[in-house]
Amino acid sequence: MDDYWNQYWNYSDIINRENKHAQVGRTIQGIPLEGWLWDKTIEFVFNHLDLELSMSALDLCAGNGLITEPLSQKVKFVIAVDCSKKFIDSINKKQLENTTAICCDARSFKFKDNFFDISICYFALQHFKVHESIELFRNIYHLMKPGGKFYIGDIPDLDRIWEFHSTDNYKSVFFESLERREPIIGTWYKKDTLINLSKYIGYSKQEIITQEKFMINNHYRFDMLLIK
Ligand SMILES: C[S@@+](CC[C@H](N)C(=O)[O-])C[C@H]1O[C@@H](n2cnc3c(N)ncnc32)[C@H](O)[C@@H]1O
Repeated sequence: MDDYWNQYWNYSDIINRENKHAQVGRTIQGIPLEGWLWDKTIEFVFNHLDLELSMSALDLCAGNGLITEPLSQKVKFVIAVDCSKKFIDSINKKQLENTTAICCDARSFKFKDNFFDISICYFALQHFKVHESIELFRNIYHLMKPGGKFYIGDIPDLDRIWEFHSTDNYKSVFFESLERREPIIGTWYKKDTLINLSKYIGYSKQEIITQEKFMINNHYRFDMLLIK
């Protein structure tokens, strides 16, 4: 894993913010996302997954559990994986009956092959370089049952990078951050790169999902659903 992000999610001040959305950087001009808007976002994601109470789910790069907890109410069993010790501790503190949170690198997370019905990786693919995403997609492919669904949400869209860094000032901040090796967001992806990558790994179906207007990052991010 890129050491920068490991350090960032274990030692930077962001993880000590009071608000849970602020802790994972889900803010609009510095203001944390409101609960009702997150509930709608979760509903949007879950509607693509046909969740059932018999299912086993993997929440990858789970952060402080903002997806893990609602997911645990919809399925039989959840494993949440994140590289941030503080976030994993905060999930385990909730003592959710059917959930285990594990501190480790998502790419090297090992479990039984063909086990999970559902995997979700939301608002985190930017932390992986393209070659690391290949490893990640392959790892998840092995962990999921045939027919299992892998939802990758909130992926920065390379085709819209200059709509995001739109002013001269934002562009300067962006290039300065790259020079310092402290990227503001991380890796931006072209949709067809991820489609081709997932075909290369062997996923049988892939769908790009356009975010709805109410979703706070819809102007520069997209979602994707893969079927093993
Ligand atoms: C922006 S947060 C999103 C958290 C959560 N998915 C959500 O949407 O609320 C990104 C998370 O990815 C985790 N992360 C980044 N790289 C990782 C890796 N290689 N393995 C495991 N977790 C990772 C970070 O620790 C952080 O909690």
